[in-house]
Amino acid sequence: MSATVAKPKIFVVIYSMYGHIKTLSEAIVKGLKEEGVDATLYRVEETLPDSVLTKMYARKFDEIPVLAPEDLVKADGFLFGIPTRFGTPAAQVKTFWDATGKLWATGALVGKYAGVFTSTGGQHGGMETTIFTFLPHLAHHGIIYVPLGYQAPELHDQSEIIGGSPWGAGTIAGGDGSRKVSEKEIQIALTQGRTFAKTILKAHQ
Ligand SMILES: Cc1cc2nc3c(=O)[nH]c(=O)nc-3n(C[C@H](O)[C@H](O)[C@H](O)COP(=O)(O)O)c2cc1C
Repeated sequence: MSATVAKPKIFVVIYSMYGHIKTLSEAIVKGLKEEGVDATLYRVEETLPDSVLTKMYARKFDEIPVLAPEDLVKADGFLFGIPTRFGTPAAQVKTFWDATGKLWATGALVGKYAGVFTSTGGQHGGMETTIFTFLPHLAHHGIIYVPLGYQAPELHDQSEIIGGSPWGAGTIAGGDGSRKVSEKEIQIALTQGRTFAKTILKAHQ
């Protein structure tokens, strides 16, 4: 009789102001689940007051539960969805990590796995730098970064503008946020979910 092995637990942790990261995250969760891992979507806490959010025409995603930083210990791996701000991660995500000092001090996240995906307003507004500048958080916590690489064939497609890079899936929101996540960007996000799940499953054999 073989013992039942628990499915690896993956938290997809996002910040989204206009919904592009949220759309990508749904494809990521789908890809993860297709490969048989346990995937749950969370968001980081908002830090801006309602008065500012209203002026920014921000959407609210109250249906997604907020992840308490200390609950990162409950997962085996993470996929972080982060929109760019000036080519670097949104401050809401930085605030989340700045509350993980105790986890760092106890090495609670050492050896866990993480991938990252992003959204930018423009094609050259930080698709790669946003993920790149997020990596120190992983390094300091001893979390193993899992890049997407070129596992999604759409990354070679130059027939249209496509977000995403070997660093992770991505979408281009447009200067006014009106561009919708394209079908090819959804496919890249699906691939990131699937390939990340395969990496985690291999590590948990
Ligand atoms: C303060 C601020 C700074 C931004 N900086 C950049 C930037 O440097 N490059 C860029 O391409 N987009 C920039 N954007 C656009 C956001 O990245 C875009 O709204 C976001 O990717 C959309 O994702 P979401 O719909 O999930 O919120 C900025 C937006 C704000 C509000």
